[in-house]
Amino acid sequence: MTIPIKNKDGIARMREACAIAAAVLESLKPLVRPGITTQDLEEAGRDAIARHGARSACYGYQHGSRRYPAHTCISVNDEVVHGIPSFRRILRDGDIVSLDIVVWHNGYVGDNACTMPVGPVAPEIAKLLRVTREALDLGIRQAQIGNRIGDISSTIQIYVESAGFSVVRDMVGHGVGLAMHEPPEIPNFGRKGTGDKIRPGMTLAIEPMVNLGGHKTKVLADGWTVVSTDGSPSAHFEHTVLTTDRGPEILTLPRPGPAQVSA
Ligand code: MF3
Ligand code: CO
Repeated sequence: MTIPIKNKDGIARMREACAIAAAVLESLKPLVRPGITTQDLEEAGRDAIARHGARSACYGYQHGSRRYPAHTCISVNDEVVHGIPSFRRILRDGDIVSLDIVVWHNGYVGDNACTMPVGPVAPEIAKLLRVTREALDLGIRQAQIGNRIGDISSTIQIYVESAGFSVVRDMVGHGVGLAMHEPPEIPNFGRKGTGDKIRPGMTLAIEPMVNLGGHKTKVLADGWTVVSTDGSPSAHFEHTVLTTDRGPEILTLPRPGPAQVSA
């Protein structure tokens, strides 16, 4: 499968979709505190997406015969990704919560995620969050013209494993644009110098998912929620990145000002 290259117009639309995804994610961060439910975050996310004139790419997303029932993915502690928001799930001090926001706007998709501490967390959990965020930054830095996808993958894997954590293998990053998932797959493990060559105009969702314990995961009976098999906490940071001759450009960086308040 060839990797879609975005033209000027596609890039302009990707910028807008990604700015909205970033603004929505940013708007949820101050809400995270002990006592709120993951459904509270869902409703705030749903409303923020609507205020920006966008649509959730998660709501109704089809996988096999199932459709994802919410507008956001909110994953707590050992939940790796695709946690379904619930009014029964109350955040407590010491928890971590991953917020994953994917929006459609004007035909294009923006995708980003982050994991936050709820109140004070144990030192090794704080380290898990820091290492995962830094792994994303290091991976993004590899998204240079002439490099290969495996350069991103291997950089993330080496950094995470040398910190004593493990990268999830059952889910991967991905191209993003006209659809939430486009080629290429971007694993968070692999070998330098392998995989597709990076060319200008690619839009890539780079997203390390890192477990404090082993890398194995399983899907809960709800058909969506992915958890670590050993019950260890898991972190997830994601940006959508445009590849250019001047280096990678993060499209989902939150911008101060207008993007947050525009209708
Ligand atoms: N960012 C997630 C992904 O790329 C969003 C999934 S939406 C869902 O897989 F509907 F599948 F949950
Ligand atoms: Co993604």
